[in-house]
Amino acid sequence: MCGIVGFTGRDNAAPILLDGLKKLEYRGYDSAGVAINGDGVITMVKVSGKINNLCEKTENGAAISGSAGIGHTRWATHGAPNDINAHPHMSMDGKFAIVHNGIIENYAELRLELQESGYEFLSETDTEVIVHLLDHYYDGDLKETIMKTVSRLEGSYALGVICADFPDAVFAARQNSPLILGVGVGENYFASDVTALVSRTKNVIYLDDGELAELSPSNISIFDCIGRPVQKQISRVAWDIEAAEKGGYEHFMLKEIMEQPRAVKAAIEPRVRSGKIAFDELDLTDEYLTNVDRIYITACGSAFHAGQVGKYALEALLGVPIEVDFASEFRYRDPIINERSLVIVISQSGETADTIAALNEAKRRGAKTIAIVNVVGSTIAKTADNVLYTWAGPEIAVATTKGYTTQVAVLYMLSVCLASRLRRISAETEARLTEEILMLPSQIQRAIDLNPHIPYLAKRYHENSSVFFIGRNMDYAACLEGSLKLKEISYIHSEAYAAGELKHGTIALIEPGRLVVCLACCERLFDKMMSNVKEVKARGAKVIGVTAEGRKRIFSEADDVIFVPTAEELFCAVSEIIPLQLFAYHVAKENGCDIDKPKNLAKSVTVE
Ligand code: F6R
Repeated sequence: MCGIVGFTGRDNAAPILLDGLKKLEYRGYDSAGVAINGDGVITMVKVSGKINNLCEKTENGAAISGSAGIGHTRWATHGAPNDINAHPHMSMDGKFAIVHNGIIENYAELRLELQESGYEFLSETDTEVIVHLLDHYYDGDLKETIMKTVSRLEGSYALGVICADFPDAVFAARQNSPLILGVGVGENYFASDVTALVSRTKNVIYLDDGELAELSPSNISIFDCIGRPVQKQISRVAWDIEAAEKGGYEHFMLKEIMEQPRAVKAAIEPRVRSGKIAFDELDLTDEYLTNVDRIYITACGSAFHAGQVGKYALEALLGVPIEVDFASEFRYRDPIINERSLVIVISQSGETADTIAALNEAKRRGAKTIAIVNVVGSTIAKTADNVLYTWAGPEIAVATTKGYTTQVAVLYMLSVCLASRLRRISAETEARLTEEILMLPSQIQRAIDLNPHIPYLAKRYHENSSVFFIGRNMDYAACLEGSLKLKEISYIHSEAYAAGELKHGTIALIEPGRLVVCLACCERLFDKMMSNVKEVKARGAKVIGVTAEGRKRIFSEADDVIFVPTAEELFCAVSEIIPLQLFAYHVAKENGCDIDKPKNLAKSVTVE
């Protein structure tokens, strides 16, 4: 979704801001702009479409001089994606320019109030009220003015502000939308995402809700919501810029698929000591755990699918009822939560609006919370009682791959760890399951190596207009993710079904030539799955069978076969998803789709 960058230093700001905006392109956007303060005169350039249009219009930034400025990529919410609605927005006299991520919920009433005071609105955005409020309250003290302005705003904002009267300064403020300050030498920055900063500095400060920062080339001052100075810690980003670059791969998605053995290893290995799983980060007493009578897992999209995998593993090992729900539903239902409930939220970005709201709701109702998160310092990581980082590194492709598999790996580990602490499994079972988990990275590699024919399958099936994924139990959980991967990047209609449920209606859609991907890795359900395969074959479907290496009986029914390494049944979802990610990737490539930035999608969904 929208991205923000800000810079103040000695160099020309515009090329630096454009470079930062390019690093945020992966988040999804439909227009972009910059505003630069050149010795007290603000120049603004904004265009709809790609950042390259902005680069052309500004001669890669060289056409605008000034050493402090702000930039933005906009993913339209209020108003069409056109030049006028693009950010920055300026006050009528050109004194202020602002960029904004988030949604101002009371913008309609503020707009009316400002119009009555004579302010003219050019755009349809909620953001424009902010710049007019700044102008309205301005009395020469900009810090005070910004504080007064944000106190009128309801909703969420990450805000970047420049003012003609402060040629060297950039200001930043946040509420429910991420904003990170970059600490440089003789120059300072802010951005909504650390990816935009890391090529210039790895020293960052995570701004908290309600805080305001004033940045000059040599200084950063931070204040709380009533203007008191706040001392903040400088953190060091743990990864290099190469991690956020393609490294020779054609697409980020392919690179991230191939990175999975290493990413899952990073999530697992530091947490295994003397053959036992140890989550040092988990601050839950044995007494509390023994009293837990229900576990909720809540998340969105692929993270929700990881939660489905987690449900099967946790339920099987803990014997506690597990409920998995979409965060967007969980937050508005009336979940039966009390101090005996444990709520697990899962999020790659840590900034998904619905997941944040579900987490807050769970805390409000008295549950203890665990967040499984990738992005360090994100809102969810800061809000949850316990944080288990997935350590996947930056994920740039919009469609998640290593984000998902590392979430699943952490959930598997959590299942074994909690089962052991609750004495639900013997020491031998714990050792065996831990050993199995340690094998996941090599199983992922094997799942890649076993399937060099995936591009051929993609060529064969890419013209199907509708695809079904069926499976049972853990296979079904993997179907959900396999199906989402295919539809989101190839735009082919695709549905995941619990195999036994197909004949209760949906089988009406199976017709000659329809592709059905049948997942049959759970050994005890293999024969049942073969019956389902027969049902769809009898109606003319083409079948790709996915099963464990060596289970050759699949050949009698499937048109094509994908083998994955044999794994403990509970843990098969990780290696099983790999060929499905690759299949989605190659089908999308066959169909000429924009794989890393699928249409209409954003990397981190920060609005409801
Ligand atoms: C799909 C995908 C999305 C995200 C979802 C939640 O490939 O990436 O479905 O999984 O938007 O995002 P996070 O995990 O950042 O909360």
